[in-house]
Amino acid sequence: MSQQKMIEVNDLVKIYHSKRRTGLFRSQKNEVEALRGVSFFVNQGEIFGLLGPNGAGKTTLIKILTTLLLPTSGTAKVNEFTLDQDKQVKASIGAMLMGERGLYWKLTGRENLEYFGALYHVPKKVRRERIDNLIDLLELEKIADRTVETYSSGQKMKMVFARALINNAPILMLDEPTNTLDVKEARRLRKIVKEHNESENKTIIYCTHQMYEAEELCHRVAIIDHGRIIALDDPEELKDGLEQSDILSIEGTIPEEARFAVNSLPGVTSANILVKRSNNGSTEEKPYLSVVCEDSRQILPDLISTLNIKGAIIRNIDKQETTLEDVFVNITGRSLMDDTRQSETSN
Ligand SMILES: Nc1ncnc2c1ncn2[C@@H]1O[C@H](COP(=O)(O)OP(=O)(O)OP(=O)(O)O)[C@@H](O)[C@H]1O
Ligand SMILES: [Mg+2]
Repeated sequence: MSQQKMIEVNDLVKIYHSKRRTGLFRSQKNEVEALRGVSFFVNQGEIFGLLGPNGAGKTTLIKILTTLLLPTSGTAKVNEFTLDQDKQVKASIGAMLMGERGLYWKLTGRENLEYFGALYHVPKKVRRERIDNLIDLLELEKIADRTVETYSSGQKMKMVFARALINNAPILMLDEPTNTLDVKEARRLRKIVKEHNESENKTIIYCTHQMYEAEELCHRVAIIDHGRIIALDDPEELKDGLEQSDILSIEGTIPEEARFAVNSLPGVTSANILVKRSNNGSTEEKPYLSVVCEDSRQILPDLISTLNIKGAIIRNIDKQETTLEDVFVNITGRSLMDDTRQSETSN
């Protein structure tokens, strides 16, 4: 992999100024610090993950890098162009942002691709060929000639993805691209992203709040929380950082009182109720008690008796493989699925 830096971000800060309505004719000025000094770089040919819960600042960062939004302070370079060279920056990026809103609903999918291809100055012949290939690749034949307003959310999402590929740009920025896709289609889209990266050496920024997506796809992952990068490395290294701990996953009915009691046991670092989604992307969500401890064998008897005394019904106990979710929980004490949208601070 060549080490040319395709994206360089230095100390980006974004403060949103908005008004909060406090009465029928009254409002208050508010500030939200969406990015609080974010720095990183992305090498050519890398899939770089931005992993963080709702409200972490992922979309804000992508909007700045695609020149849709001005930062409050800080600088960035995209394909060696600074953000004020917005034409060149835009030409360097295929972006999938704002989900379904990136399409004209009264046009057909094919017409949308035609339109955006022309906007990016893709020559007519190349454009036609590319559109046919994309429709084929994403299995959009059946819907390509229908107006977008008749599409399901998943179909719109796939068409927005096709749109991001229309200018064959060296950099792709994908903001939660699998959001409304079903399990099978989400997996297929990730596969296409991976193939695109490998065969065409594309540089990709992939935003998600699903840790299994980041683990499966990304060469390096920045974990972002409350507008700050709190960890950045390749997924294996991030997980190795937790290796000194054991993680037990306990399924069953666990009252809050039982979780609290386990949390206070000697040898237990943390006990949190998390939601399990299988790595194969199944939509089934199961709550479980995740116990991070120094030595699982040593605490097991105490753990089981405490859970029993506090009225828990245990169905299954497993020693877990470390995931990026555990890395996040360990640093923040919260789950990735939590919503961290800032309550606005008035000034
Ligand atoms: N236009 C805006 N005006 C005021 N606050 C905003 C605006 N856009 C975003 N925010 C706030 O900035 C913070 C970061 O939002 P952002 O959309 O970047 O997060 P995100 O990581 O993309 O979240 P999600 O996973 O929900 O898409 C949040 O607290 C959000 O409420
Ligand atoms: Mg977002």
